[in-house]
Amino acid sequence: MTSTALYSPVVVPAARLYIDGQWSSPPDRELIPVLNPATEQTIGSVIEGTQDDVDAAYAAARAALGPWSSTTLEHRAALLDALADALHDRGEELAILAAMEIGMPINESRAVQAAFPESVLRSIVDVARTARWEYDDESGTTIVREPIGVVLAITPWNFPVHQIIAKLAPALAAGCTVVLKPAELTPLNALFLAELCDTVGIPAGVVNVVTGRGPTTGEMLVQTEGYDLVSFTGSLKVGRHIGEVAGHRVTRSTLELGGKSPAVVLEDADLEIAVRTTVKNCFTNAGQKCNAPTRLIVPRESLERARTIAAAAATSYVLGDPLDTSTTMGPLASSDQRDKVLGYLDAARHRGATVDGGVPAEEFGAGYFVHPAIVTGVAEDDPVVTDEIFGPVLVILGHDGFDDAVRIANDTPYGLSAEVWSADATRVEDLARQIKAGQVRVNGVRSPQPPVAPFGGYKASGLGRELGSFGLDEYLETKAVLGLHHNS
Ligand code: NAI
Ligand code: MG
Repeated sequence: MTSTALYSPVVVPAARLYIDGQWSSPPDRELIPVLNPATEQTIGSVIEGTQDDVDAAYAAARAALGPWSSTTLEHRAALLDALADALHDRGEELAILAAMEIGMPINESRAVQAAFPESVLRSIVDVARTARWEYDDESGTTIVREPIGVVLAITPWNFPVHQIIAKLAPALAAGCTVVLKPAELTPLNALFLAELCDTVGIPAGVVNVVTGRGPTTGEMLVQTEGYDLVSFTGSLKVGRHIGEVAGHRVTRSTLELGGKSPAVVLEDADLEIAVRTTVKNCFTNAGQKCNAPTRLIVPRESLERARTIAAAAATSYVLGDPLDTSTTMGPLASSDQRDKVLGYLDAARHRGATVDGGVPAEEFGAGYFVHPAIVTGVAEDDPVVTDEIFGPVLVILGHDGFDDAVRIANDTPYGLSAEVWSADATRVEDLARQIKAGQVRVNGVRSPQPPVAPFGGYKASGLGRELGSFGLDEYLETKAVLGLHHNS
């Protein structure tokens, strides 16, 4: 863990709140340390926000809403363009900072914590510029899209910059104001982003950042009246709770809650390519990815071959310092996350599963490293098959043909994403149409540019969509004005 020095000095944001355009560090606040999960060393700290901070943030966001929502779209778009330019210029610093917070390999971090959020931001601005904000329908009624109001954004730690931008960009384009509560594991990049918002001149109160732990500060933000929409990404458990609180008030919630996504391989597909691609997509960010294809479903007669290919691919990962460009897998984001993953694997072994890999990597002397795991020989209802584990764990299951493959793929409470593989264009399309998931990828296709394809879940994977025009819609109310009698 020595190459970290190569990248210093990265300016780690100070422990401050950003409320109403002001940075503050009230002296009586508890500080939460932020660790680098590769070294277990403290790289910074953030403030545990209190009820006073929550109230101040909502007051600022409410006061800013009127002026901000009455600016022109072009004014807001120009500020978001400037934010995208700032993300571009400061992308390398942000990628390093995020890599240090999450433990994501720097090459991946550059792509998904800097370049991708920048392109998401630009794509949302383009969508907003061409959206139908106001029009007369076939009955002569004037349809007006209005910003929903103050947005509470609660984000997780796995792709933190992307997850913030995917909420902030459409909210601001729509004319909403935002109170952001980033994950306590990875809050520094949020403060970095707030500095960029401040620098490019986004007005005071339009973006507010209150840091703190979920069950304390997060819970206060959710329980306090003050928001018109809560947009949450994280666990099913917390999402369900937030949805209940919002639902009771008849306040809209959008929830992105993870998954247990299938990769279905039919017998006519190229097994080698399908398995290797699935391993790669499953183990991105050490498997801490809501849409990771974690259940590989192959023809029963190919199970052993699939296992051999997958296990070989898994052992080719280079674990190590996330800031070393030769590293291809970093640690898990926290000791809790590592223990959760190892617990699932131990329990599966106990029930007779075959686990290739899946042991702690202790050679570094520090850090929450786990060698990636390929799991076979488990029942379809084993927790390792049914639960979102959020680690480098790929389970391989056998199917007995097309219909059985569809059955297994859909036999999950989740429905975020799926991958389907067949050499036959008709069958692969049929398969894609039969899977209950918000995104289905055919034969290994990756996300096309611009990143406007809607992202979100069927079933317990959530409510609502992010990205593109569907993402923008979540931040808008719809008003029908009858009787204006425009000339049409
Ligand atoms: P979490 O759901 O507890 O945390 C996500 C965010 O919600 C964080 O900002 C956290 O501070 C906040 N939060 C937690 N409790 C809250 C409450 N009562 N009120 C308001 N905000 C609250 O997720 P956690 O504990 O970090 O990870 C646990 C599991 O969740 C993971 O192992 C994974 O399975 C899943 N997860 C799914 C994600 C996804 O992309 N959908 C992202 C992160 C985790
Ligand atoms: Mg939690």
